[in-house]
Amino acid sequence: SNPKWERVQAAKAEALLGGGAQRVAKQHAKGKLTARERLQVLFDPRSFREAGGLVQHRCHDFGMEAQRYFGDGVVTGSGTVFGRPVFAFSQDFTVAGGSLSESHAAKICRLMDRAVAAGAPVVGLNDSGGARIQEGVMSLAGYAEVFQRNVDASGVIPQLSLVMGPCAGGAVYSPALTDFTFMVRHSSYMFLTGPEVVRGVTMEEVTQEQLGGAATHTTKSGVAHGAFDNELDALSGMRELLSFLPLSNRGALPRTPCSDPAGRMCPFLDYVVPSNELEAYDMLAVVQQVVDEGHVFEIMRDYAQNIITGFARLDGRTVGVVANQPAVLAGCLDIDASVKAARFVRFCDAFNIPLLTFVDVPGFLPGTAQEYGGIIRHGAKLLYAYAEATVPKLTVITRKGYGGAYDVMSSKHLRGDINLSWPTGQIAVMGSKGAVEILFRGHPDIKAAEADYEEKFNNPFQAAKVGYIDDVILPRLTRQRLCAELETLAGKEVWRPQRKHGNMPL
Ligand code: COA
Repeated sequence: SNPKWERVQAAKAEALLGGGAQRVAKQHAKGKLTARERLQVLFDPRSFREAGGLVQHRCHDFGMEAQRYFGDGVVTGSGTVFGRPVFAFSQDFTVAGGSLSESHAAKICRLMDRAVAAGAPVVGLNDSGGARIQEGVMSLAGYAEVFQRNVDASGVIPQLSLVMGPCAGGAVYSPALTDFTFMVRHSSYMFLTGPEVVRGVTMEEVTQEQLGGAATHTTKSGVAHGAFDNELDALSGMRELLSFLPLSNRGALPRTPCSDPAGRMCPFLDYVVPSNELEAYDMLAVVQQVVDEGHVFEIMRDYAQNIITGFARLDGRTVGVVANQPAVLAGCLDIDASVKAARFVRFCDAFNIPLLTFVDVPGFLPGTAQEYGGIIRHGAKLLYAYAEATVPKLTVITRKGYGGAYDVMSSKHLRGDINLSWPTGQIAVMGSKGAVEILFRGHPDIKAAEADYEEKFNNPFQAAKVGYIDDVILPRLTRQRLCAELETLAGKEVWRPQRKHGNMPL
């Protein structure tokens, strides 16, 4: 026997128990896994290696010297997800409520520094009572050190958050600064000030779930990008998201073996656009026809459903899909849709993920709510994001491309690489009825004027004649064509003048 080794082993065994059996049982009773169990699900079997498992806090106030736990409320380390390296931290609610101390923060910071150096993603599993109250400003400093690293790593490595318990006060800003935040329904919540403070200040009565649960943040606030029914689904969702992403902005896009032929025809698409132009159809079904195995991993599925954003693959290559959804608000762009898509486009551009845009947009949503809310400023974000993006940009107009919204949606003029239209494409300043009412008010033969306008604009010819549409294709050929174009564009590079950073209209 080796007493020195035995001492280490005893410490390690103690660390594995977290805050002790009683607190672990309490965690399980809430339907929650422990920090370590979650990591076992997130990573490939037996691939996780812990770092900092023997860290303890250094606080001597409020009797804290008597409450020391190895690990100090967060498990940090690395492993593989589908065979590729990933770093993760997992807050341990059984140790001081997962609260963030100076040492706890330093562990997360060391992990992030390592991840940036290695060029691999960081996943944060959040389950914490917030700043360690006994440590005062030391814990606030800890948060800010993490925030600064979140910002420094933004656009360098993917940063993903999964909120699996409380996340309140300043703690919310680390997930908010990361690229994607997922939540678990009914067991996670995020807010700056809790229900009691809210009651005191605004006299509103709300529960934690109403104020900051997964439903709230995935349908109302847009703070979170996905909600899952339980922890296992959420963790496997996180694994799947990682499978689409490059490890860093300098890493190659993953190419997944694909059994769906690149040349597959999509006959269904020939019939999908209704002959009555006021009728809606489901754009998600269109996207599903086109991409590999019909699979789209939607981002913010339940928020601003008039636009679809998500990851998919074309011939095994990741693409970021943005698509107007005519089945919701006729596919109009509004504030929420613009912001949703803009952030998604910027993520894709930062990580070299080609953009595939499907367009059927009648314009921006009219009304005082939109104008007072700043649709001009918010719509500009999407315009900015597309114009700034230098990744391969492929665009398919399925029906309407009207007005300013046509310009915004990855048009040729924003340096779209390949802009295709189906024969049902209509590229014009507005729909024929509205246009004719303005142009020919009081005209004796308004019907003839409308027919004239339709003849001119209710087709993709005018745009194709001037080269703003590269080709008009049969819908059934869409997948085949896009796969081939993407292959050709894979090596795209764009030179941009040096600047510190642009000034996007936030
Ligand atoms: N600092 C230090 N310890 C904390 C803590 C914090 N911020 N938050 C929770 N803890 C400890 C509790 O003292 C308790 O310790 P114990 O196991 O030794 O008894 C343990 O974590 C679990 O907390 P508990 O309150 O029993 O769990 P709960 O599920 O009933 O409630 C919270 C969870 C997060 C709602 C509640 O703990 C809370 O309100 N915490 C403070 C939140 C806050 O204001 N943070 C600072 C702002 S950033």
